[in-house]
Amino acid sequence: MKLSYLWRGLPGHPIHPPLTDATIGAYTAATAMGFASVIGVAETSAAHGWWLALVVGLIFTSLTAVTGFVDWLTIEWKSPLWWTATWHMGSMVTATVFFLIAALVGHSGYNDGAVESLPFVLTVVGFVFLTVGGWLGGAVVYVHGMRVLSLVDEPPDRAASPAPHPEKEAAEGS
Ligand code: HEM
Repeated sequence: MKLSYLWRGLPGHPIHPPLTDATIGAYTAATAMGFASVIGVAETSAAHGWWLALVVGLIFTSLTAVTGFVDWLTIEWKSPLWWTATWHMGSMVTATVFFLIAALVGHSGYNDGAVESLPFVLTVVGFVFLTVGGWLGGAVVYVHGMRVLSLVDEPPDRAASPAPHPEKEAAEGS
Protein backbone atom coordinates (compact mmCIF):
# COMPACT_ATOMS: atom_id res chain seq x y z
CA MET A 1 0.00 0.00 0.00
CA LYS A 2 1.17 3.50 -0.84
CA LEU A 3 0.22 6.69 1.00
CA SER A 4 -0.65 8.32 -2.36
CA TYR A 5 -3.59 5.91 -2.70
CA LEU A 6 -5.40 8.27 -0.27
CA TRP A 7 -5.52 11.13 -2.80
CA ARG A 8 -4.87 9.36 -6.13
CA GLY A 9 -7.03 6.28 -5.55
CA LEU A 10 -5.98 2.71 -6.21
CA PRO A 11 -4.55 1.27 -9.42
CA GLY A 12 -7.59 0.74 -11.65
CA HIS A 13 -9.76 2.82 -9.32
CA PRO A 14 -8.62 6.46 -9.53
CA ILE A 15 -10.52 9.01 -7.41
CA HIS A 16 -10.79 11.85 -9.94
CA PRO A 17 -13.20 10.22 -12.48
CA PRO A 18 -16.07 9.41 -10.03
CA LEU A 19 -15.82 12.92 -8.57
CA THR A 20 -16.09 14.36 -12.09
CA ASP A 21 -19.44 12.57 -12.47
CA ALA A 22 -20.84 14.36 -9.40
CA THR A 23 -19.40 17.71 -10.49
CA ILE A 24 -20.59 17.53 -14.09
CA GLY A 25 -23.98 16.20 -12.92
CA ALA A 26 -24.50 19.15 -10.56
CA TYR A 27 -23.54 21.75 -13.20
CA THR A 28 -25.70 20.02 -15.81
CA ALA A 29 -28.67 20.08 -13.43
CA ALA A 30 -27.97 23.77 -12.69
CA THR A 31 -27.91 24.63 -16.39
CA ALA A 32 -31.14 22.71 -17.05
CA MET A 33 -32.94 24.32 -14.10
CA GLY A 34 -31.64 27.76 -15.06
CA PHE A 35 -33.07 27.26 -18.53
CA ALA A 36 -36.38 26.05 -17.09
CA SER A 37 -36.64 29.13 -14.89
CA VAL A 38 -35.78 31.51 -17.74
CA ILE A 39 -38.51 30.05 -19.99
CA GLY A 40 -41.00 30.12 -17.11
CA VAL A 41 -41.26 26.41 -16.28
CA ALA A 42 -41.61 26.10 -12.49
CA GLU A 43 -39.86 29.48 -12.45
CA THR A 44 -39.41 29.95 -8.70
CA SER A 45 -38.55 26.33 -7.83
CA ALA A 46 -36.21 26.05 -10.81
CA ALA A 47 -34.43 29.27 -9.78
CA HIS A 48 -33.86 27.84 -6.32
CA GLY A 49 -32.67 24.53 -7.79
CA TRP A 50 -30.37 26.33 -10.26
CA TRP A 51 -28.52 28.24 -7.55
CA LEU A 52 -28.32 25.33 -5.11
CA ALA A 53 -27.03 23.01 -7.85
CA LEU A 54 -24.35 25.59 -8.72
CA VAL A 55 -23.23 25.62 -5.08
CA VAL A 56 -23.20 21.81 -4.95
CA GLY A 57 -21.13 21.79 -8.16
CA LEU A 58 -18.67 24.29 -6.70
CA ILE A 59 -18.26 22.21 -3.53
CA PHE A 60 -17.58 19.05 -5.55
CA THR A 61 -15.21 20.99 -7.81
CA SER A 62 -12.80 21.61 -4.93
CA LEU A 63 -12.29 17.86 -4.46
CA THR A 64 -12.39 17.11 -8.20
CA ALA A 65 -9.80 19.74 -9.04
CA VAL A 66 -7.42 18.65 -6.26
CA THR A 67 -7.54 14.97 -7.28
CA GLY A 68 -7.09 15.89 -10.95
CA PHE A 69 -4.22 18.19 -10.09
CA VAL A 70 -2.29 15.57 -8.12
CA ASP A 71 -2.62 13.18 -11.07
CA TRP A 72 -1.51 15.95 -13.44
CA LEU A 73 1.65 16.45 -11.36
CA THR A 74 2.73 12.89 -12.22
CA ILE A 75 2.67 13.52 -15.99
CA GLU A 76 5.92 14.09 -17.87
CA TRP A 77 6.27 17.87 -18.35
CA LYS A 78 5.39 19.09 -21.88
CA SER A 79 4.69 15.56 -23.20
CA PRO A 80 1.65 15.22 -25.55
CA LEU A 81 -0.37 13.83 -22.63
CA TRP A 82 0.69 16.79 -20.48
CA TRP A 83 -0.55 19.27 -23.10
CA THR A 84 -3.95 17.56 -23.39
CA ALA A 85 -4.29 17.40 -19.60
CA THR A 86 -3.18 21.02 -19.25
CA TRP A 87 -5.77 22.23 -21.77
CA HIS A 88 -8.29 20.12 -19.84
CA MET A 89 -7.29 21.87 -16.62
CA GLY A 90 -7.49 25.30 -18.25
CA SER A 91 -10.97 24.63 -19.59
CA MET A 92 -12.22 23.29 -16.24
CA VAL A 93 -10.75 26.17 -14.26
CA THR A 94 -12.38 28.62 -16.70
CA ALA A 95 -15.73 26.82 -16.37
CA THR A 96 -15.42 26.98 -12.59
CA VAL A 97 -14.78 30.74 -12.65
CA PHE A 98 -17.93 31.28 -14.76
CA PHE A 99 -20.04 29.10 -12.45
CA LEU A 100 -18.63 30.85 -9.38
CA ILE A 101 -19.41 34.33 -10.74
CA ALA A 102 -22.89 33.12 -11.80
CA ALA A 103 -23.56 31.94 -8.24
CA LEU A 104 -22.25 35.19 -6.73
CA VAL A 105 -24.09 37.63 -8.99
CA GLY A 106 -27.15 35.34 -9.18
CA HIS A 107 -27.85 35.09 -5.48
CA SER A 108 -30.46 37.84 -5.71
CA GLY A 109 -32.23 35.72 -8.35
CA TYR A 110 -32.28 32.87 -5.87
CA ASN A 111 -33.91 35.15 -3.29
CA ASP A 112 -36.42 36.54 -5.81
CA GLY A 113 -37.19 33.15 -7.37
CA ALA A 114 -36.17 34.13 -10.92
CA VAL A 115 -32.87 33.58 -12.75
CA GLU A 116 -31.63 36.87 -14.21
CA SER A 117 -30.11 37.19 -17.69
CA LEU A 118 -26.47 37.79 -16.74
CA PRO A 119 -26.09 34.85 -14.33
CA PHE A 120 -27.92 32.61 -16.80
CA VAL A 121 -25.54 33.58 -19.63
CA LEU A 122 -22.58 32.99 -17.27
CA THR A 123 -24.00 29.55 -16.47
CA VAL A 124 -24.35 28.65 -20.15
CA VAL A 125 -20.81 29.87 -20.95
CA GLY A 126 -19.53 27.84 -17.99
CA PHE A 127 -21.36 24.81 -19.33
CA VAL A 128 -19.70 25.22 -22.75
CA PHE A 129 -16.24 25.25 -21.12
CA LEU A 130 -17.30 22.27 -18.96
CA THR A 131 -18.25 20.34 -22.10
CA VAL A 132 -14.96 21.17 -23.84
CA GLY A 133 -13.07 20.23 -20.66
CA GLY A 134 -14.98 16.96 -20.38
CA TRP A 135 -14.10 16.15 -23.98
CA LEU A 136 -10.41 16.80 -23.25
CA GLY A 137 -10.61 14.79 -20.00
CA GLY A 138 -12.00 11.92 -22.08
CA ALA A 139 -9.04 12.31 -24.47
CA VAL A 140 -6.64 12.09 -21.52
CA VAL A 141 -8.15 8.76 -20.49
CA TYR A 142 -9.48 7.15 -23.68
CA VAL A 143 -6.90 8.42 -26.20
CA HIS A 144 -3.71 8.72 -24.14
CA GLY A 145 -4.81 5.91 -21.80
CA MET A 146 -3.84 7.65 -18.56
CA ARG A 147 -4.58 5.47 -15.50
CA VAL A 148 -6.04 2.75 -17.72
CA LEU A 149 -4.75 -0.75 -16.90
CA SER A 150 -6.44 -2.49 -19.84
CA LEU A 151 -6.28 -5.92 -18.19
CA VAL A 152 -8.82 -7.34 -20.63
CA ASP A 153 -8.75 -10.89 -19.26
CA GLU A 154 -8.74 -9.95 -15.57
CA PRO A 155 -11.37 -12.09 -13.74
CA PRO A 156 -14.36 -9.92 -12.63
CA ASP A 157 -13.77 -10.44 -8.91
CA ARG A 158 -10.17 -9.30 -9.22
CA ALA A 159 -11.12 -6.44 -11.54
CA ALA A 160 -13.72 -5.18 -9.05
CA SER A 161 -11.53 -5.74 -6.01
CA PRO A 162 -10.45 -2.61 -4.14
CA ALA A 163 -7.19 -4.33 -3.22
CA PRO A 164 -4.52 -3.43 -5.75
CA HIS A 165 -2.62 -6.27 -7.38
CA PRO A 166 1.10 -6.05 -8.07
CA GLU A 167 0.58 -6.65 -11.79
CA LYS A 168 -1.83 -3.71 -11.93
CA GLU A 169 0.73 -1.43 -10.34
CA ALA A 170 3.34 -2.66 -12.81
CA ALA A 171 0.99 -2.06 -15.75
CA GLU A 172 0.17 1.43 -14.47
CA GLY A 173 3.75 2.28 -13.66
CA SER A 174 2.83 3.85 -10.34
C1 HEM B 1 -14.47 20.95 -12.58
C2 HEM B 1 -13.35 20.26 -12.47
C3 HEM B 1 -13.03 19.05 -13.32
C4 HEM B 1 -13.87 18.19 -13.98
C5 HEM B 1 -15.40 18.22 -14.04
C6 HEM B 1 -13.04 17.21 -14.64
C7 HEM B 1 -13.51 16.20 -15.48
C8 HEM B 1 -12.74 15.17 -15.99
C9 HEM B 1 -13.23 14.08 -16.79
C10 HEM B 1 -14.68 13.91 -17.25
C11 HEM B 1 -12.19 13.27 -17.04
C12 HEM B 1 -12.26 11.95 -17.78
C13 HEM B 1 -12.57 10.85 -16.78
C14 HEM B 1 -13.25 9.67 -17.40
O1 HEM B 1 -14.08 9.85 -18.29
O2 HEM B 1 -12.95 8.54 -16.96
C15 HEM B 1 -11.02 13.81 -16.39
C16 HEM B 1 -9.77 13.24 -16.37
C17 HEM B 1 -8.64 13.85 -15.87
N1 HEM B 1 -8.57 15.13 -15.32
FE1 HEM B 1 -10.14 16.31 -14.87
N2 HEM B 1 -11.73 17.48 -14.36
C18 HEM B 1 -11.69 18.60 -13.57
C19 HEM B 1 -10.56 19.24 -13.09
C20 HEM B 1 -9.28 18.84 -13.34
C21 HEM B 1 -8.09 19.58 -12.97
C22 HEM B 1 -8.06 20.94 -12.26
C23 HEM B 1 -7.02 18.83 -13.34
C24 HEM B 1 -5.58 19.20 -13.18
C25 HEM B 1 -4.78 19.22 -14.18
C26 HEM B 1 -7.54 17.59 -13.96
C27 HEM B 1 -6.78 16.55 -14.46
C28 HEM B 1 -7.27 15.38 -14.98
C29 HEM B 1 -6.47 14.20 -15.27
C30 HEM B 1 -4.98 14.05 -15.00
C31 HEM B 1 -7.33 13.24 -15.81
C32 HEM B 1 -6.97 11.81 -16.24
C33 HEM B 1 -7.67 10.75 -15.33
C34 HEM B 1 -7.15 10.71 -13.93
O3 HEM B 1 -6.01 11.12 -13.70
O4 HEM B 1 -7.89 10.29 -13.02
N3 HEM B 1 -8.91 17.66 -13.96
N4 HEM B 1 -11.37 14.98 -15.76
